[in-house]
Amino acid sequence: MTSRLLEIYSRIPYCRAFADVGCDHGYIAKAMLEGGKCDRAVVSDVSAKCLMKAEKLLYGYISQGKAVSCVSDGFSNIPPVDCALIAGMGGEEIVKILDSAPFLPEKLVLQPMKNCDKVRVCAVSKGYKIVSDYTFIADGGFYVIISLEKGEDSLSEEEKEFGRTNVEQRPEAFVLWAAKEAEKQRGFASIAGLSEGQRKIFYYKAERLERYVGNRRTDEDT
Ligand SMILES: C[S@@+](CC[C@H](N)C(=O)[O-])C[C@H]1O[C@@H](n2cnc3c(N)ncnc32)[C@H](O)[C@@H]1O
Repeated sequence: MTSRLLEIYSRIPYCRAFADVGCDHGYIAKAMLEGGKCDRAVVSDVSAKCLMKAEKLLYGYISQGKAVSCVSDGFSNIPPVDCALIAGMGGEEIVKILDSAPFLPEKLVLQPMKNCDKVRVCAVSKGYKIVSDYTFIADGGFYVIISLEKGEDSLSEEEKEFGRTNVEQRPEAFVLWAAKEAEKQRGFASIAGLSEGQRKIFYYKAERLERYVGNRRTDEDT
């Protein structure tokens, strides 16, 4: 497994029935079964062709009845499970999946590739509370992983945008990401021909990010 998949695997709690929604290769479900982290696993994907990879990988478990595969758009075709993973998709696709789900499991692990704020807001509106929500570095990129369980929660504006664990604990990966993003925003601000209003927006975004970096700069520094 890649380091991204290993980090995801480490965040999935022990459960009875686990589903990987949009599993593609099926590596996580195999690791869950091999590691004794679940009794049964469901591998599912909207694409039958992608799902074939997981079916091949999990052939032994499927024959023993410990895993089932199903072509499914989100949760539409999935038998009840107590924990599900949705990883490696855009945040808007994850929101669509949560919005159209006929049931939602007790625990969710989400790893959106973008639009993490939309995923956080949607999950909390569906009756989940944040267990952890942080940035990590893997395979040369930055990723966010959000662990949730059923419960009440409410998010501050900062938590919506950056993730609760990042805001509260400022892990190193998040600080590095924030520094990089702030530089990007300052780069945008220096593009010739912008209106003063547009430039201010970029500076504002950079300054918000720099609060987490510890070397906050002002517009005059640039
Ligand atoms: C980039 S792959 C990610 C695979 C794996 N989850 C990972 O993180 O490595 C995205 C997978 O999600 C599947 N997918 C996209 N939209 C989906 C949906 N609405 N329901 C189920 N699967 C979906 C795609 O077919 C594809 O196999």
